[in-house]
Amino acid sequence: NGRPVFTIVVLGASGDLAKKKTFPALFGLFLHGHIAPQTRIVGYARTKMDRPDFLKRISQHIKNTTTPKVKVALDQFLDQCTYVSGVYDQDGGFQDLEKELKRVEHECKVQDRLFYMALPPSVFIPVANGLKKNCYTTKGINRLIVEKPFGMDLESSRTLSKALGALYREDEIYRIDHYLGKEMVKNIMILRFTNQIFGSCWDRDHISNVQITFKEKIGTEGRGGYFDEFGIMRDVMQNHLFQILSLIAMEAPASLNAEDIRNAKVDVLRTIPPVIESEVLLGQYGRSEDGAHPSYLEDDTVPKGSKTATFAAAAFHIHNPRWEGVPFVLKCGKALDQQKVEIRIQFKEMAANNNNLFGKDVAARNELVIRVQPEEAVYLKMTQKLPGLGMETVMSELNLSYNSRFTNLQVPDAYENLILDAIMGEQSNFVRSDELDEAWRIFTPILHKIDRHDGSIPVEVYPYGSRGPKQLPEFIRRFGFERHLQP
Ligand code: BG6
Repeated sequence: NGRPVFTIVVLGASGDLAKKKTFPALFGLFLHGHIAPQTRIVGYARTKMDRPDFLKRISQHIKNTTTPKVKVALDQFLDQCTYVSGVYDQDGGFQDLEKELKRVEHECKVQDRLFYMALPPSVFIPVANGLKKNCYTTKGINRLIVEKPFGMDLESSRTLSKALGALYREDEIYRIDHYLGKEMVKNIMILRFTNQIFGSCWDRDHISNVQITFKEKIGTEGRGGYFDEFGIMRDVMQNHLFQILSLIAMEAPASLNAEDIRNAKVDVLRTIPPVIESEVLLGQYGRSEDGAHPSYLEDDTVPKGSKTATFAAAAFHIHNPRWEGVPFVLKCGKALDQQKVEIRIQFKEMAANNNNLFGKDVAARNELVIRVQPEEAVYLKMTQKLPGLGMETVMSELNLSYNSRFTNLQVPDAYENLILDAIMGEQSNFVRSDELDEAWRIFTPILHKIDRHDGSIPVEVYPYGSRGPKQLPEFIRRFGFERHLQP
């Protein structure tokens, strides 16, 4: 299909991320013909196992394999996968990996290498080093996909960037934020910059506030060890929700070139001051009201007495002519009442501009909602006349639901999107180091304060399965959000 062909190396191949995300995504690309049949995939990890064991492990999370077509494809895919075991901090293992790479490259006449690091942060740099020293090809392209966490704060992130930057060029590094591979997140630029109707009112004159919300129904459930060290702000807000904020708020980039897009994102981040204590609301989930779900502290993988937040809301202020005075409120939490990610743009009311022809109680604020997941949708809440003899009004929706509009099209998985981008050398949906730096600058002071756990920022307990801390409605009202009076 004319696409570049890489040999793909998955480091951390026996881990959770590789099993749940990387290999299923690679198979998805293979199944739909997006990666060439001669693409070889080499897994590398510490676990000693033979090839059949490895293949069994990576097929575990590949779904819908009952149809004959998929079954055949899966067998072909697994035929292309091999495994090398080795440690992360000594050359020996990487020399074995290099031998395997030479073998498959010779067989398939392929020269370019894509290294996918599905690894814990502690071995990040040793592996990047080992690869550079032993497996960096001089005959073709080297690309390195790296996964978060990219540090714990500004300083550690800079240390990491510096260490990585000493080994690889920025155009060789692909930092994944998988939210950038989600269909609706990729749709933001299109919505904003192709539709006059949105483009012309995307500013402080028309918009009152922006809410970006991430809700999960499940708690940490066994991932408490990792999670507890980071907390929800580092886990979800500083990266995934902030990427969404950048795309909603940035100015039009000079072109669709990856550097121009990322320049526009960095530019808007530069105008945002660090989060302040009084504009943060933290929570930790307790037991569900019916007692069926345990609290965060009852999760065995969570350290006793932990004060880590599983819910956070924070306000951000963009100081530029477009957004001055429009708060962006980001909210994220685990063990909540719903599973949902959405962007809610709340417009100012019309009433003030039309002599109060229709009062505020009649003409409620418009809202544009972009639902990222589940069930992708874009809808606009608006006032209209209630059909009938009178002049009563009703809040209604212009509703684009993907399920009913795009019945024959499938929304691709975020990881498939991004791995394909990395193969194509398309970097716009990967995080550049200066972007990362800006995001950490905004979050680091508050994170350090939170990490001190000195009680200056209370962590409110909310029941598992609820809407979050009881202070939340008041918190979002403070930043201009008005719940609709009409249904
Ligand atoms: C990950 C976080 O980056 O994103 C998880 O570490 C979170 O805690 C996940 O559950 C959410 O991703 P998605 O694609 O399920 O919305």
